[in-house]
Amino acid sequence: MALLNILRYPDPRLHKVAVPVTEFGERLATLVANMAETMYDAPGVGLAASQVDVHERVVVIDTTETHDELLVFVNPEITWASDEKQVYDEGCLSVPNVYDGVERPARVKVRAQDAKGAFFELECEGLLAVCIQHEMDHLMGKVFVEYLSPLKRNRIKAKLQKEERGLEREAALKAAGRRYYGDDESRFRRHAGVRRLRPARPDRCRL
Ligand code: NI
Repeated sequence: MALLNILRYPDPRLHKVAVPVTEFGERLATLVANMAETMYDAPGVGLAASQVDVHERVVVIDTTETHDELLVFVNPEITWASDEKQVYDEGCLSVPNVYDGVERPARVKVRAQDAKGAFFELECEGLLAVCIQHEMDHLMGKVFVEYLSPLKRNRIKAKLQKEERGLEREAALKAAGRRYYGDDESRFRRHAGVRRLRPARPDRCRL
């Protein structure tokens, strides 16, 4: 098994639309195993293949604290959604350290195939309902920040692009054998006590 690289927003590859899986063989089994390992390692509750730059309709989810109930959805389709809605503070492994409320149907029925091609149907509620809808958005090339206002989305984009540049500088300095202390502005902001609200259990919302 291997850890896969998770694409970070605003990487344009996150907006590719995934195609249905037609072959249920060794290659798919390896992809599913690697996606599960990557999700548990991150750690996160769900991962869509689109996030690891494989544009096929494959999702893995495990909402348990004990990480022992892996759900695999190949070619998932929502066959029913409740009129009742719920708002959940979503995060995403492709959008590090950003959490915001998204309203979605509280319950959905999903029809999908497992990694061997067998069909099943599952009624989802709570975090699982949030997660499967979030992951299926990924398969359509949609990241949860697209539910937020353009103002918020642009702020998030700018913040992540800046972090990306920082990471690149850090890597370059490391390669040159020097230490990276972060840029002055971000140090100032930390010390100025910029208020940041984080959920008590961020790993429960990284979808
Ligand atoms: Ni996500």
